[in-house]
Amino acid sequence: MAARNRMPPWHENVRLANGRDILIRPIRPEDAGPMQAAFALLEPGEIRQRFLHPMKELSSQQAERLVRPDPRRDFALVAAEPLPPGEALVGAVARISIDDNGQDAEFAILVSHYVNGMGLGRHLMRRLVRWAKGRKVRRVYGDVLDSNLPMQALAESLGFRKETTGEAGLVRVVLDLPPPKPKAVPLPPMLSSPIGA
Ligand SMILES: CC(C)(COP(=O)(O)OP(=O)(O)OC[C@H]1O[C@@H](n2cnc3c(N)ncnc32)[C@H](O)[C@@H]1OP(=O)(O)O)[C@@H](O)C(=O)NCCC(=O)NCCS
Repeated sequence: MAARNRMPPWHENVRLANGRDILIRPIRPEDAGPMQAAFALLEPGEIRQRFLHPMKELSSQQAERLVRPDPRRDFALVAAEPLPPGEALVGAVARISIDDNGQDAEFAILVSHYVNGMGLGRHLMRRLVRWAKGRKVRRVYGDVLDSNLPMQALAESLGFRKETTGEAGLVRVVLDLPPPKPKAVPLPPMLSSPIGA
């Protein structure tokens, strides 16, 4: 997967291994319709792995909520066709949300079977972690079905460790982020001038 040219923040043009051009960008309200349409094409297994329970459809209400992340605590990226939002098919969605404690952030990701296995999952996860670091989050986590070995392998390869959730059939993957570097405090002039000067 190759990234090309300069774009606004969190926007990237990438070419997938199959030659398809994809735009990665923050989710937009116009994506609600295309996301509902894409949801209808998902396999039940994909839906269960992402939402941890079966769902027949993504209602308009649910879609509207998903496309309007709260900028104070949420971040969501889509991998879509390089067309205007609203027209573009959405192939993958990755989101992260900071908990009330301000320290932990939960991710969720879905790369549909039309575009999986080509590095998008890894790329999007890295972007979520980068965003979390910028927000001084201490831990990124996600709950994954026991049976979801691809997601567990992806998380492990990115440095996540596994924890139990206490809930049967689920495992939590957790990435500890380094504490933010303390800001350098400028010394008062008296202390910053060379000795003897
Ligand atoms: C799990 C998921 C996000 C992976 O996305 P993807 O774009 O296919 O992943 P990538 O192509 O970037 O592959 C990254 C790694 O995932 C793992 N992986 C992906 N597909 C795999 C498979 N079929 N079997 C085993 N491991 C697999 C591998 O470790 C792979 O690394 P490698 O390519 O170096 O071997 C995607 O399959 C998905 O959305 N599944 C359904 C929803 C879900 O499970 N969400 C997670 C819970 S929130």
